[in-house]
Amino acid sequence: MVEAIDPFAPWQLRGLELRNRFIKAATFEGHCPGGRPDPEGLAAFHKAFAKGGVGLCTVSYGAVEPSGRTFDNQMCLQDDILDDLRYVTDTIHSQGAKAAIQLAHCGNTSKWHGWIGKRARGPSHGFNSLGALAGTPFARALRVDELRDLAEAYKSSAQRAIEAGFDALELHMGHGYLLSQFLSPGVNKRKDQYGGSLENRARFPLEILKAVRAGVGTQVPIIIKMNLRDGFRGGLEIEDSIQAAKLFEQNQADALVLSGGFTSKNAMYLFRGPTFVHELIKVQKRKIDKLIYLMAKPALKSQPFEELYFLDLAKQLRAQVSLPLICVGGVQSLSSVHRALREGYQAVQIGRALIHDPALVNHYREGSKTESGCTVCNLCVAEMDRDGVRCVLNDALPRRIPATRV
Ligand SMILES: Cc1cc2nc3c(=O)[nH]c(=O)nc-3n(C[C@H](O)[C@H](O)[C@H](O)COP(=O)(O)O)c2cc1C
Repeated sequence: MVEAIDPFAPWQLRGLELRNRFIKAATFEGHCPGGRPDPEGLAAFHKAFAKGGVGLCTVSYGAVEPSGRTFDNQMCLQDDILDDLRYVTDTIHSQGAKAAIQLAHCGNTSKWHGWIGKRARGPSHGFNSLGALAGTPFARALRVDELRDLAEAYKSSAQRAIEAGFDALELHMGHGYLLSQFLSPGVNKRKDQYGGSLENRARFPLEILKAVRAGVGTQVPIIIKMNLRDGFRGGLEIEDSIQAAKLFEQNQADALVLSGGFTSKNAMYLFRGPTFVHELIKVQKRKIDKLIYLMAKPALKSQPFEELYFLDLAKQLRAQVSLPLICVGGVQSLSSVHRALREGYQAVQIGRALIHDPALVNHYREGSKTESGCTVCNLCVAEMDRDGVRCVLNDALPRRIPATRV
């Protein structure tokens, strides 16, 4: 009989010992005005989860270059923010947790304001629905020399992150961001060696994985967040994601976070539950941003929620891939944690339930709670544009405070 995995026991990921199998999922914090971390705000945000018992805390969305941002308040991983980031990692470490950072680029959905008059860049030419009103209505195809530059940008950003004290890296290859755009047959229409077959579509994501590995060496765990399905007709399907996962396995990835959905086309496939678009429109200060979200309404249609909503697809991948798998999507109770580990995952990532109660892991361990009080209303998402991501039902997380160290 296979022994049940204890989620509260230490877990080893490529030499990195985590105190348990609970990971705070990357959830954009809204604490990086102008692309620079507000160190006190970002540290206080993550301290809550580290103190609350998670083994690994993921700082979200570190763009590898300025145009890799969909919002200008997403972090840009440049040299001049390393002291601030070190303050964040020191804070996480002081609570006994380890720190990961998500490395990302938004590709064809860039609406970074410094980019006005230029085109966003992705695998292929196309309309940039998210950037249309912000001055970047079109995306053009990246040239091969630009792909090389981007691989360098990922590599140097990864090195900076390690210098700033992060223990692990998460490469964002899901949710319709740049590397997910390359993997997706619905978006990647290239005719060269980077388009067509899955092997070709996975070529650039693999080049990024190899560049990052070369940059940080063999000791640092590299986690890949990827889509099981894009969730729209013509997008990536499970057969291809299994093949991609095998390629990541052969190329020294350490674990896969299995998600789905495409922010520009069907964002609610990744969240499930009621749409937050009305609240998002309400919190925008500028008319143009209100209009952008009004235009994005069709991509933000509500979808039914159930716990562990990616489990069935993940089981198909589990049957063919032996890498550690990390469950994300609807881990809302301790029984779901145990179920995920029984079904073949090695760890869980939690987003909304921890935003509602950052000490949830401690509560589970002590037996004072077995379920999250999160109602999956999804309104936490809109808070990123108000005072920083937090649960609207309580004040468990700090609101945005003015930067004191910049
Ligand atoms: C407020 C908020 C912000 C998010 N930002 C990111 C992000 O920056 N990168 C990412 O990969 N996923 C992001 N997500 C998605 C989560 O990582 C996770 O995949 C999703 O919320 C499902 O997990 P959950 O059911 O535990 O919330 C975000 C989710 C929320 C609620």
